[in-house]
Amino acid sequence: MSATYTFDIFSSLDGYSNSRTFGGYFGKQGPELLDHRFDQYGEEQRLVLGANTYRAFASMLASSSAGSEVRDPWVTRMRNLPTTVLSNTLEGSLDWPDATVLSGDPVDAIARLKKESEVPLRSHGSLTLNRALLAAGLVDRVQVTLFPVITGQSGLGRIFQDAADFDLELLESRTLDGHTQELIYRPTLHT
Ligand SMILES: NC(=O)c1ccc[n+]([C@@H]2O[C@H](COP(=O)([O-])OP(=O)(O)OC[C@H]3O[C@@H](n4cnc5c(N)ncnc54)[C@H](OP(=O)(O)O)[C@@H]3O)[C@@H](O)[C@H]2O)c1
Repeated sequence: MSATYTFDIFSSLDGYSNSRTFGGYFGKQGPELLDHRFDQYGEEQRLVLGANTYRAFASMLASSSAGSEVRDPWVTRMRNLPTTVLSNTLEGSLDWPDATVLSGDPVDAIARLKKESEVPLRSHGSLTLNRALLAAGLVDRVQVTLFPVITGQSGLGRIFQDAADFDLELLESRTLDGHTQELIYRPTLHT
């Protein structure tokens, strides 16, 4: 049995992962979203990060103060999960409680990890990594948290830019705080 791999991503309606102006959660977080994330990250699982997402989180956490949104309880839970970071350049010990660096071809590394892992795998952000894994057919679930904004002027990081074409089967959906949608899909390559 292969471990389930979930690509967990926050998105604007127009498919951007970040914005120059809206800020974290595109400024639309609410208690239901934060509680739901806290529950999801309390499940037994392994976190998988691309090197840039790891660096971004590690540096934001290091420079943040108590009460900052980067220290929201679900983020603390995420940081405390057993974590695999895909990188051929990171060296030395990581600023993360239980992290291992996997080097080599990320697609081969994750194919192996899926066979070996006894717990589900979940990756947050990590766009480059997850585009490659999607194309290789290794992503079992795409979990998009769709925030109620259009970021036509300020959007950064088109999530599926240059990814392959996919058909999506909707597995779960929920509305959080009355305006944010969490959509969980099973992707299959469109042929
Ligand atoms: N919207 C959200 O939910 C969310 C959450 C977190 C982060 N983000 C955003 O996601 C972005 C980070 O994504 P990213 O695309 O820059 O990078 P990423 O996937 O986090 O990291 C890319 C790096 O990881 C290694 N890597 C992973 N997959 C690879 C592959 N297939 N081929 C070669 N190297 C691979 C390489 O590191 P080495 O060079 O060390 O080998 C590469 O430079 C940031 O803009 C961040 O703000 C969004």
